[in-house]
Amino acid sequence: MSNNRQHVVPLDLEKLPMTAELDGSTALVTGATSGIGRAIALRLAGLGASVVVHGRDQQRGAETVNEVAAAGGNARFVAADLSKSEEVLRLAAEAGEVDVLINNAGIYRFASTPETTAEMFDTHMAINSRAPMLLVGALAPGMATRGHGAIVSLSTGAATTPVRGAAAYGASKASLELLTRVWADEFGAQGVRVNAVASGPVYTPGTEEMGDETLQEIGRTTVLGRVARPEEIAEAVLFLASSRASYITGTVLQAHGGQLAIG
Ligand SMILES: NC(=O)c1ccc[n+]([C@@H]2O[C@H](COP(=O)([O-])OP(=O)(O)OC[C@H]3O[C@@H](n4cnc5c(N)ncnc54)[C@H](OP(=O)(O)O)[C@@H]3O)[C@@H](O)[C@H]2O)c1
Repeated sequence: MSNNRQHVVPLDLEKLPMTAELDGSTALVTGATSGIGRAIALRLAGLGASVVVHGRDQQRGAETVNEVAAAGGNARFVAADLSKSEEVLRLAAEAGEVDVLINNAGIYRFASTPETTAEMFDTHMAINSRAPMLLVGALAPGMATRGHGAIVSLSTGAATTPVRGAAAYGASKASLELLTRVWADEFGAQGVRVNAVASGPVYTPGTEEMGDETLQEIGRTTVLGRVARPEEIAEAVLFLASSRASYITGTVLQAHGGQLAIG
């Protein structure tokens, strides 16, 4: 009888680092100039990763980099417009070898289907789905060659539960969730784990535009009855990016505050 156990990667729990567990690694966080992405960048840097902070806005990029530095971490800013494929590829080249890729940058514009223009639909697909596709295509082969890597993408409950007015947004994130499972299969045997976090409503500069009352109304539809802080979603992302999730791949972690349980 063959011994299947020989194929199991040994995991010595006592040797799992409890602090600075990402020391020596490099992480690229897209959309780290704001909201959830900024919180993720700060936490990754706090765990020892050298962080490539991405966004478009130079000033907010510098703010994130300075915040990381003030906390004793290491970060640099790379600007790129993810709606343009050549800029996505330049970002991947400038990021260099990364061990952790967080596909966080995203847009969410709400409109009924008749009001959704081709441009609006295409922009959602380009930023929320095509950009992660190109980044994974450019960066995951290197992770695979080095034998390790973690990719986490930001999704939403609107990817699986129809939300009125969120056709283009929901479709772009549903595509991202499908891609997550495809990439998990494609790179898993070479030690690269790929997961997503489907977030519920979060207080961020992006959702500020909705108005506080609308956002809180959405928060009240969750089981926990409130809107999340960016740090709470960052924690779920951190878990999936870290070795604590070493046997988890191809999943979408629901960080909804229980929204689906009563949906
Ligand atoms: N907030 C929520 O309630 C919520 C719920 C579910 C899922 N999510 C997902 O979580 C992610 C982050 O959301 P958030 O609310 O923190 O976002 P946010 O505050 O609106 O910030 C968006 C980030 O994405 C970047 N970005 C937007 N368009 C870009 C483009 N064309 N090229 C490059 N970067 C671009 C922005 O960079 P610049 O500002 O520098 O241009 C910014 O850093 C998104 O993927 C979103 O869909 C959010």
